[in-house]
Amino acid sequence: MFLIKGGVVVNHDGRKELDVRINDGLISEIGHDLEAKEGEEVINAAGKFILPGAIDVHVHMRDLGASHKEDYKTGTTAAIHGGVTTVFEMPNSNPPTIDQESLELKLKAVDERAICDMKVYVGATPDNLDILPELTKHPRVAGIKAYLGSSTGNLLFDNKDLWDRLLSENKDTLVAVHAECECMINQNTEKFKDIHDPEIHSVIRGNDVAEAATRKIIEVGFKHNARLHIAHMSTKEELFAVKEYKEKGYTNLSCEVCPHHLFFTTNDYDKLSTYLRVNPPVRSKEDRNALWEDGIALGVVDIYATDHAPHTVEEKEQDYWKAPSGMPAVQEAGVLLMSKVHEGELSLEKFVELRSFKPAEIYRLEDRGYIKEGLRADIAIWDIEKPFKITKDWLKSKCGWSNYEGFDCFGEVQHVFVEGEKVL
Ligand code: NCD
Ligand code: ZN
Ligand code: ZN
Repeated sequence: MFLIKGGVVVNHDGRKELDVRINDGLISEIGHDLEAKEGEEVINAAGKFILPGAIDVHVHMRDLGASHKEDYKTGTTAAIHGGVTTVFEMPNSNPPTIDQESLELKLKAVDERAICDMKVYVGATPDNLDILPELTKHPRVAGIKAYLGSSTGNLLFDNKDLWDRLLSENKDTLVAVHAECECMINQNTEKFKDIHDPEIHSVIRGNDVAEAATRKIIEVGFKHNARLHIAHMSTKEELFAVKEYKEKGYTNLSCEVCPHHLFFTTNDYDKLSTYLRVNPPVRSKEDRNALWEDGIALGVVDIYATDHAPHTVEEKEQDYWKAPSGMPAVQEAGVLLMSKVHEGELSLEKFVELRSFKPAEIYRLEDRGYIKEGLRADIAIWDIEKPFKITKDWLKSKCGWSNYEGFDCFGEVQHVFVEGEKVL
């Protein structure tokens, strides 16, 4: 039992100085000048902000067959240090999460090792469409993931005839897509196969590659009013496509942006080389600015997720064609965005909307995403004034590196509660 006193409670719709009582895993009481009860630990939050724990809807925590990169313990430890209390893991694991057996295997490992709440996606394959509706009834399945273009792992769902089936037969389940056009990737791969400069990645998987797949899948989703979520949106073209269909009344359409597309551009290959290789790739300044200005500021972007995708240094140090795509970020993402709050470019309410409230709403998690009586006590207490440098020492991911090392930020996560337990 805890009593958080003197802090400012922040929800997506405003902030108030209030005390918060935690009991039995829940936020049991919110009010002015609450008195500590016997046996309650009092947390002094004067000058601090009490935020709903973040929900990261896009992570790869590896484990099982890829536990040399990350495991559920190290990955979720990194998460809580970043103020994240719920993560949704993608199905491109080893083994891939595509049937009952692989789902149970993953959930068992999660129960043994994860220290924040973790839900999982199941992957769509050309062969499992018959079982998906049953599989997604599992309460710990966050949704379906479909790789319309190939990425790390070998889950591919690029047969356009099946996109219609997937979205019409699973209308009530959220379907998140990796939207890049496989045929264009293959053509460009052939065309540029002799170039080894990592910067070629942003050409092989150019803006048009993302736009083609994104537009196509949105058209299919719109036809069925399916719950469609565009993962890691990286270009202005995709942004305008999402905006266009939202304006047409496609209310079940949502999208996310990730830190690497908001904080890096193709100029950063010089310094970061293959460490910056990620799918979809980093883009131009113009795209990056559009994500901030037309995407986040104007409200087209719903969610800020990380696509936390750790690989080892040895793996990343290889030649462009061998180095795997993806980079870690689950821990760093919060403080990066909080720095924008500190700079006055983003409100604290918007931060909470992108990180907690909207993910809960879009994924229909009614028990979290808000600091409110009766909800799960998933809470992060932030000191947002504190200068904060991202250092190797602070990082908890097993992969042991980050493209954000050395970044000077603002904001420190000082306490984290997951379902009423003080985990940080
Ligand atoms: C991800 C991974 O490594 O699992 N890599 C990446 O480049 N983003 C897969 C994915 O999200 O596409
Ligand atoms: Zn992806
Ligand atoms: Zn991913």
